[in-house]
Amino acid sequence: MGISKNEKRITTHVLQEMKMRGEKISMLTAYDYSMAKIFDAANIDVLLVGDSASNVMHGHETTLPITLDEMISHAKSVIRAVDRALIVVDLPFGSYQGNSKEALVSSIRIMKEAEAHAIKLEGGEEVVDSIKRILTAGIPVMGHLGLTPQSIYKFGTYEVRAKEEAEAAKLLRDAKLLEETGCFAIVLEKIPSKLAKQVVENIKIPVIGIGAGPHVDGQVLVSHDMLGINKDFSPKFLRRYLNLYDEIKGAVEHYIKDVKSNDFPNDKEQY
Ligand code: KIV
Repeated sequence: MGISKNEKRITTHVLQEMKMRGEKISMLTAYDYSMAKIFDAANIDVLLVGDSASNVMHGHETTLPITLDEMISHAKSVIRAVDRALIVVDLPFGSYQGNSKEALVSSIRIMKEAEAHAIKLEGGEEVVDSIKRILTAGIPVMGHLGLTPQSIYKFGTYEVRAKEEAEAAKLLRDAKLLEETGCFAIVLEKIPSKLAKQVVENIKIPVIGIGAGPHVDGQVLVSHDMLGINKDFSPKFLRRYLNLYDEIKGAVEHYIKDVKSNDFPNDKEQY
């Protein structure tokens, strides 16, 4: 089952072309085969195997505990499902901050074992050496600035970042630096939309926002949030397209009732 002749597989170059012609980029997180298959069939442009898997798949409070092995396992399932989308995989906390060689080794594992298309990591100036080293192996790198959840214990809250001038100025510098270093795109998370607009005006690579307003080149959401599988996470920027928590719960309650009442299986549902 390949990609149809008329349809392009999405590459980092296709994203750049989309930006140039003003076509917005759609991106969602995916962590498993079945969901990724649906998202790809819907023609999503980019699937991010995000370290948000730590929260929504593993039940941790933060993104910090998820391991490189766990990320690779999620990425392998997603890759098997996808014909069209570009697959970007997050480098998890602790797999790239130590030194640039460690960052390269972690990235090579993701590309080799999961057969991913690109990696993403959090941070600006602090991780530039790691990005440079990863790029030497021909691995495309997506940056991530603003609210960077792997630094939650430094920030102390998940509130909007870069509202103060000094942090906003650093973010603008970091975005430029990531572009100059060779990142193919940047995610901006939870920053004022005015600042996101300034970033877009300052750099030429695609900028994907989550809680960064409408002026960016594309949008990303955590799939569990936009599908309403999570009920207890409702930031202002989130648009919920379904209420799957209630729908799934209702279906399971219905099934339990049918089993208990001997309604299931009926005459047609047996051999
Ligand atoms: O891990 C993740 O889901 C992310 C998105 C919030 C961009 O990094």
